[in-house]
Amino acid sequence: VKGGFATFMEKEIHDQPLAVADTLRGRADAEGRLKLDELRIDESVLRLINKIIVIACGTAAYAGHVAKYAIELWCRIPVEVELAHEFRYRDPIVDEKTLVVAISQSGETMDTIMAVRHAREQGAKVLAICNTHGSTIPREADAVLYTHAGPEVAVASTKAFLAQITACYLLGAYLAQLRGNMFGDEIRSLLDELGTMPDKVAEVIGSEEEIARVANDLADVPSVLFLGRHVAFPVAMEGALKLKELAYIHAEGFAAGELKHGPIALIDEGQIVVVIVPSPRGRNELHAKVVSNIQEVRARGAKTIVIAEDGDADVEPYADVIFRIPKTPTLLAPLVAVVPLQLFACHLAGAKGLDVDQPRNLAKSVTVE
Ligand code: BG6
Repeated sequence: VKGGFATFMEKEIHDQPLAVADTLRGRADAEGRLKLDELRIDESVLRLINKIIVIACGTAAYAGHVAKYAIELWCRIPVEVELAHEFRYRDPIVDEKTLVVAISQSGETMDTIMAVRHAREQGAKVLAICNTHGSTIPREADAVLYTHAGPEVAVASTKAFLAQITACYLLGAYLAQLRGNMFGDEIRSLLDELGTMPDKVAEVIGSEEEIARVANDLADVPSVLFLGRHVAFPVAMEGALKLKELAYIHAEGFAAGELKHGPIALIDEGQIVVVIVPSPRGRNELHAKVVSNIQEVRARGAKTIVIAEDGDADVEPYADVIFRIPKTPTLLAPLVAVVPLQLFACHLAGAKGLDVDQPRNLAKSVTVE
């Protein structure tokens, strides 16, 4: 069942290229029109949506943060992202023109179910992104886009996360096409670009041994900070969550721009800081700013682990360790950038002798509020 791996977690990390490929497969009809799996509302209703609120918990919520960047850019619709349990109890402003996107691996997370019910009671349409056919959330939703990650056994989510992000890009492209923000050629080139992602994810998994070596040496660290900007901000938060869940190490993810507004006070000699660097070929000011954040923490004694694109030489003078990721457009980079962080947490927990599949105090699906 574990496919020759010592743990489900490792197997599921290795399943990720397939999870992305399977989630992408068969999404366009003969005319190149994207489609959802289930649609119980008229497309004309989706054309009139003027706000999107993504609700989810845990790792799924970080996929939602990535969705915000993509959907706002491609569709020019404002997107909010909120933890389902916060959304439910704050009287959110939603109406018939709000699309609520609920992301859940299991489809049975009670916090997310209650938020879905609340949204529908207020007249909002709900679209589910879910990995489990026939579970509660897709059954109650008005529309469904299934992720095809296959069953995920390890409590901490990995392959479902990559599949969720992939589904969010597909949803963004679907809405952009439906609403006339993107046309045939643009959609095709986006799908082509997405089609290259499984191989890139596999390439990062190929660096597992090197990542495991670094993780083994850090088994005793008390705290790790993660920094990222733009789409790498949710990646930083997910990297920190994985380390908390698997290795029981204090970890926090920050928006790199926020460093100077507080977190930099935490940096002293030997503090491990993981920095996810955006592509230097993308919006260049982002890259330069993150490189200067690495310098700032390094100058204060931090040990830096840098996730940077192949060929990015600017980070070299400031990195104690570099994990390389293949060249990828900025918006799609979370799919590759999160993989070294998953492997890092998994191997660090392994080095501590912990049960990575069943971390203490956690359940795969939390069916109480
Ligand atoms: C948590 C799981 O409690 O629920 C996480 O441990 C998961 O791994 C979160 O991300 C949300 O679960 P789901 O099934 O709604 O995606």
